[in-house]
Amino acid sequence: MSVLQRTRGLGWGQRYVAVEPTHFRVDYVINPFMDPAVQPDPVLAMSQWQTMVRTLEGLGASVDVLAQRPDAPDMVYAMNLGLGLVRADGTRQAVMSHMRYAERRMETVSAGPFFAGLGHAPSYVGSDGVGAHLEAGDAFAFGDALVVGYGPRTEELALKHLAADLGVRVRGLRITHPGMYHLDLAFCPLDERRALVCPSALDAPSAAALLELVPEPLVLTEEEALTTFAANSVVVGSTVVMPACPPRVRAKLEEWGFDVVIVDVSEFHKGGGSIRCLTNPIDITVGRDLPAVPGGEVLLPPEA
Ligand code: ARG
Repeated sequence: MSVLQRTRGLGWGQRYVAVEPTHFRVDYVINPFMDPAVQPDPVLAMSQWQTMVRTLEGLGASVDVLAQRPDAPDMVYAMNLGLGLVRADGTRQAVMSHMRYAERRMETVSAGPFFAGLGHAPSYVGSDGVGAHLEAGDAFAFGDALVVGYGPRTEELALKHLAADLGVRVRGLRITHPGMYHLDLAFCPLDERRALVCPSALDAPSAAALLELVPEPLVLTEEEALTTFAANSVVVGSTVVMPACPPRVRAKLEEWGFDVVIVDVSEFHKGGGSIRCLTNPIDITVGRDLPAVPGGEVLLPPEA
């Protein structure tokens, strides 16, 4: 007989950075969702974004808003700006992204000073195409580690930088699915034991590693992940803010004690991102949400 353990929710996810979509467009193609012939409606996009921000604030979260650069149409996907967190000694840091594609690299120029203004000292793993690529949508605290997807965007070398720089254990997962090019399209931590997971994003050894890492996984099919963006959700306490939720997934979440809130951000799906991509949690705390590991440690899955 299974003993139902009701969720206490997630410790982090109360403080976010977001970018107001004043210049959101699909100007180029760097993922399979993007088609410059299918442009977002700027008025609808703005109202969807405002509803999302108000929803998060209504749940008690804070959202610091950075202005969008006119030359950076993808900057609305704030999750990718950098990995803001609180170090074991209480100081705040932001490991800035070094984007894979040159089309997004100017975003860091604005994001670095913005994070600094919030008290998060920026650090860099590379810049202008030189050094390791890191996109923060690939990195989430879960269990005993920072879980980092690598392949399409983040490079394996970045995992070493993160581990050493932050003094944490990094568990790498190899992403192979072209449509789930960031880990946040396939993995959403829910609480200490649970997460939404889509193993089809990963090669076989990494899919097995992910399922081993999460004691109670809520598995999404490839189709669910790609068509609903359900894994690209945000958790505030015990509320899951989702772009859509298949009935089976909702039933499981509610059984566990989560509330589900749906916010339509369909205009942003045209650029290949949803609610998680539009928000960037900066309150992951080393020593609380993942253990401090002095010197750092990288654990990679076996080769496929
Ligand atoms: N067009 C953006 C890109 O390809 C979408 C980013 C989605 N963000 C995310 N965290 N998955 O970079």
